[in-house]
Amino acid sequence: MNQETPNNPALDISVLSLPLSKEEIFGNDKNSALEIGFGEGEFIVEVAKNNPNWNYLGIEIKYFRYKKALKLVLNQNIRNIKLIHFDADLAVEQVFAANIFDKVYINFPDPWPKDRHKKHRIINNNFLDNLYNIMKEQGILEFTSDHLDYVTHTIEHVDSHNKFSNIFGKQGYSHLIENRPQTKFEKEFLDKKRQIYYLSFKKL
Ligand SMILES: C[S@@+](CC[C@H](N)C(=O)[O-])C[C@H]1O[C@@H](n2cnc3c(N)ncnc32)[C@H](O)[C@@H]1O
Repeated sequence: MNQETPNNPALDISVLSLPLSKEEIFGNDKNSALEIGFGEGEFIVEVAKNNPNWNYLGIEIKYFRYKKALKLVLNQNIRNIKLIHFDADLAVEQVFAANIFDKVYINFPDPWPKDRHKKHRIINNNFLDNLYNIMKEQGILEFTSDHLDYVTHTIEHVDSHNKFSNIFGKQGYSHLIENRPQTKFEKEFLDKKRQIYYLSFKKL
């Protein structure tokens, strides 16, 4: 008989009292990573399988994508992932206690290319303040995009925020990154031979 406890990756924050500690989210104190805008979950599933001793938490605003990812996690019985269906912008401000995450991934966020829409980009000063608060000291923020204007925007905002150091120094990004699964958008852009920019910042 299988005695395993049921796997419940869905984290329904509407029934919990906020902010949530690491223990309340994961039930343990292991190293933890957050993925913002996980899409259909391919990346978080691969990275969680490759790092069974870490906890992973994903936030996705689109319900259809969230449900697809949930199915993937359940079908593969992956036990180190929790998923939240919510707006990550609000979540980083309201949902988590301070100093929880060792790593934060933002992979191919919506670029909002038109000038009048740039205010919708998730990277701004207030968002960086909130990320800073929920990340551990020396924690790493990884940002990935094919959109050069958003890359420049991000490097400039993080630089002027003054509380993270840019791992890639003056150039600010790399076109190569090792030991990382590819996201769905990354695969599509690479197939189209688009240049990918990998950014990495350390919380000071
Ligand atoms: C361009 S897609 C990239 C998906 C995935 N990260 C990838 O690389 O394949 C951007 C994703 O971010 C999600 N997203 C956008 N704004 C969000 C927000 N405020 N909170 C959570 N997810 C968000 C979108 O719904 C979408 O799934």
